[in-house]
Formats: sequence, C-alpha cells, structure tokens
Amino acid sequence: MKKVGVLTGGGDCPGLNAVIRAVVKSASVKHEYKVTGIEDGFEGLVLPNKTRDLTLQNIRGILPIGGTILGTTNRANPFEYKIIIDGKSETRDISRDVLNNIQSMGLDALIVIGGDGTLKIAYELFKQGCPVVGVPKTIDNDILATDVTFGFRTAVQTATDALDRLHTTAESHHRVMVVEVMGRYVGWIALETGIGGGADVILIPEIPFDMEAVCKKIDERKNSGSRSSIVVVAEGAKPIGGDISILCPAEEGGSAERLGGIGNKVGANISCYGREVRVTVLGHLQRGGTPCAFDRILSTQFGVAAMDLVAHKRFGEMVCLRGKSINSVSLNEVTQGQKKVPTEEGLVKVAESIGISFGR
Ligand code: F6P
Repeated sequence: MKKVGVLTGGGDCPGLNAVIRAVVKSASVKHEYKVTGIEDGFEGLVLPNKTRDLTLQNIRGILPIGGTILGTTNRANPFEYKIIIDGKSETRDISRDVLNNIQSMGLDALIVIGGDGTLKIAYELFKQGCPVVGVPKTIDNDILATDVTFGFRTAVQTATDALDRLHTTAESHHRVMVVEVMGRYVGWIALETGIGGGADVILIPEIPFDMEAVCKKIDERKNSGSRSSIVVVAEGAKPIGGDISILCPAEEGGSAERLGGIGNKVGANISCYGREVRVTVLGHLQRGGTPCAFDRILSTQFGVAAMDLVAHKRFGEMVCLRGKSINSVSLNEVTQGQKKVPTEEGLVKVAESIGISFGR
C-alpha cells in the first residue's frame, strides 16, 4: 500500500484537525493509502520518533477540536535550521537530510498544511524533488490564489462576538473601545470583524491612517448623540508616514517578527483628544477553539482535494477555493506574495458607504 505523510506547520488555526481527518478518511475510503502523521511541523522530518500512523480509529472525534493533534512549530525551517554548537547558535541548510528522511520513512508523498512561510518551505522541498501537495491554512486569510483559507471565518466570528460584548459596556460608560485584532500584514480579520461587529472605525495595514481623521469621526458621533464608539485596529495597521508596531523582532532561523502594540498607541492618541478609552487586545483567542461549520466544511473539502492531488501525482500544487469550486494552483504562484485587502472596491467600499471610517 502507498503511504502519504501529513504535517501541520506554522501557527495553528481552527480546522487543522478537520483537514487531517479528511485526508485520513479519503486515503482509506477512496484511495487505499496509509497515512503517517508527522509531529511538530518540519521538526518531525528532522528528529527521530516524531511520526505515528494515522488511522480511522485514532482520528475519531477530532472534527470539532481546535488546534492540531500533530502539534506544530514555526521554528523548524530545514533550509535555515537552528543548531547549537559549542554553546553558539548557528543556522544550517539540512534540507538534504529531510529529503533522505522522507525516503527512509517510505513516504510516496507529503501533504503540508500551512500558511505562507510553511508553503514556501514546501515549495523549496518540491523544487528539490520532494512530492509535495499544499493545503492553505491561516486565520489571516493572506494566502494568494485562494478566495479564503480555513480558520479565517472562525477567527472573524470570535472577534465579532467580542465586539458585541464590548458594545454594551462601551455604551454604559460612554467610552471609546479600541480592539486590536490579528492578521499580520493584511487587514482581512479587522475589516470583516469591523463590519460584522458594527465598528465605527476600522484601521488596516492597506490604508495607513490619519489620527486626526479617526478622532474627527469619533467627535462627529459624539456630536450626533452617539455616546460610545468602537475602533477595530489590525495589528499590522500603521499611521501615514509611520511604521508598523513590532513586539519582537524575527529570530534568525526561528520565528517571524511578532506584531502588536498599535491598539494601545491608537487608544493613547484618542485619549489625548479628551475621550475616555479602553483597549482590548484579542490575541490568541482568535486562533483557539472549535472551528465554525464553514471552516469544518472547507477543511474537509481541502483534505479530500489534497488526497486527490496525491493520488494523481499532481505535486507542487496547493488546493484552493475559487468561487464555489475547489481547485488547485501551483505553489510557485502561491508563494509570490500576500493577498491584500483591495482598498477601492468590495467590503472597504461597503463599509465606507455606511459611514465606517478607515482614517483616510
Ligand atoms: O499568522 C497567524 C497569526 O495568528 C498572526 O495573526 C499573528 O501575528 C501570529 O500568528 C502570532 O504568532 P504567534 O503564535 O507566534 O504569537
């Protein structure tokens, strides 16, 4: 029987287990493949004893569970693998060892479920001869060539629920509530949460903001009798002429830079205009927990489509959603950049049409 490996890399997100389940089920029901689960992303292809058989029995019940049963890490890039020699940290390209390990595990193919960083590594391994298929995951929804990634809708729902709660306390205290949401360098979570949760101001990385325009909007609301306002800020938002706010720089051979802090900066600026402000940073609440029905279904579609690509030896491709169809696209195309929010059409224009300000 042929064997396919599956790994989850980078940050987790709701729906990963649903993809794993769909891979295992369709491998068994439709394709007659065995599945090997690789633990902790690419780390499981580097270190020994980090694989296990995935069967219909041991994946039972994982559909609604958040996170990933395989574990994940964003620190094990085989092309820049961090090792400690004589107490000193060095990065090495150990991709050859990874390719050899894939062979000695007897894997005929590898399904990589990940975001942009993980998919880039997958593409590099493919170029070196590894039979890889990609599945796009991330709450950020920033992956090119797919209309949406799984995990995104759940994150938006979680953040929208938070906004609903903040509205009532904001209204009681006549306050301005600033809510910082995730999304890295794109504003999809902020935009959809802001519209879904009835925000008055949405600040996204694609539209650098003018603080005066933000405060003008809040003043206008006060003058027209609205005693509270809600401002949703994407963690990657920045003022005109300013920089994004970084919590932690990128580590060499380790994790990417960590964004954060813009919510507090925006809050402090609004306070200077004489308004009482409170800031909430939603953080990893947006990543945890059970996937919504949409994400479970999309994850299942992606898992089945990934196994179909494996069975047809369509390596170097990633499954994607285009309109209502599940399709596939080359990893080369996917890894060319990030999917940004269009600023002059679509939801941004809808939001502006109902008076939401982007601080421009
Ligand atoms: O990419 C998903 C994401 O949740 C981003 O929105 C966020 O900036 C980042 O991961 C946080 O990463 P970590 O879990 O390493 O703090």
